[in-house]
Parts: sequence; structure tokens; C-alpha cells
Amino acid sequence: MNENIERILIPEEALKARVREMGRQISNDFKGKPILAICILKGSVIFFSDLIREIDTDLQISFISAASYGAGASSSGKVEVTEIMEIPIEDRAVLIVEDIVDSGRTIARIRECFEEERAAQIKVVTLLDKPERREVDVRVDYTGFEIPNEFVIGYGLDYDQKYRNLPYVGVLKREVYERGDAIE
Ligand code: IMP
Ligand code: MG
Repeated sequence: MNENIERILIPEEALKARVREMGRQISNDFKGKPILAICILKGSVIFFSDLIREIDTDLQISFISAASYGAGASSSGKVEVTEIMEIPIEDRAVLIVEDIVDSGRTIARIRECFEEERAAQIKVVTLLDKPERREVDVRVDYTGFEIPNEFVIGYGLDYDQKYRNLPYVGVLKREVYERGDAIE
């Protein structure tokens, strides 16, 4: 295990099993309706690619990027959304796929954008949720795992753009981010 990782929080097998369950539930809930699945870059990319393969209905994919500004281990008030989307959202059933909901600001902002573009239905799925950190009351429809208030990396999540390739979710040693600079 990498020396900067304190412990494994969610092992690979547990991720796989939970992602499979979530895919089944989403397939049932959308009842055969075609889904436009939106990947929020970059953190969601691993979860997204595993999840969509567990969804059994017509599905298209698009990518957006959400950046929040300000230093520290949480997002600041301002979240900027950049679309990399060639598929119109209007009247579509949209599934927003996020890696982790923390303050809730990112998801709140993205939901707002999609409401403005008149999606027919918006559902949010997140792999991880840190409920203790919530600052904005935002609706999340599917949650993989609720986790404690610790900084996690792996399975797409990064610190300083690193660790995204780890096959598990791990807790980063506090000294790593306390000595580090601003993070995403
Ligand atoms: P929110 O806008 O505060 O809900 O922040 C959501 C974003 O913050 C996520 O999409 C991640 O990019 C980042 N983030 C929050 N907590 C963590 C963490 O523990 N590890 C890695 N990234 C995190
Ligand atoms: Mg993110």
C-alpha cells in the first residue's frame, strides 16, 4: 500500500458489489426510459464507467467539468460548470454521476444548470457522501456509501491529481494534505 495512505476504507470487492446494486436499482427506477448519463470530470470517471455497464436500459453519455475556486480541502462558494456536451438535455431523463458529495455546492450548481436547460427528469447518483460536511441542502437520489469526515482518495478521487488509479477508496494521511498546498 502507498505510504501516504492511512487505511483502506472501501475495498475493491465492496465497491464492485455496491456499484452493481446501484445499477440494478437505477435500471428499475428508470423503467426502460432512455437515460442521458452525465459524468462529472474528473473524479467520477472510474465510478461512471463501472456504473453505466451495470445499467440495463438505452443510455447515452456526456461529460461536464465542475471546478470550485479557493484553497483548502473543500469547495468554495463559487462553482463553475463547463459543458463538453454535444447531446441536448431538454426533455431528457438525466442521471448526474458524482464521485462524492461534500458541502453539496457542486451538485446544487449542476442541478440548477440542468433545470435551466429544461431536463424532463434529473436524478443524482453519488458513490460517496459525507453528510457531516453538508452546507447546502441538495437532493441526492442514490448514494453508494456514507463516509465519515475524512479526506479520501482512489477509485477516481484525487489529492493533487494523484491516486485516482487506486482500485479501492482509502483515507489519506492527514499530514499529507496538511503540509500540501491548495487542493481541488
Ligand atoms: P462539494 O461541492 O463541497 O460537495 O464538493 C464536491 C467535490 O469536492 C467533489 O466532487 C470532489 O472533487 C471534492 N472532494 C470533496 N471531498 C473529497 C475527498 O474526500 N477526496 C477527494 N475529493 C473530494
Ligand atoms: Mg469532483
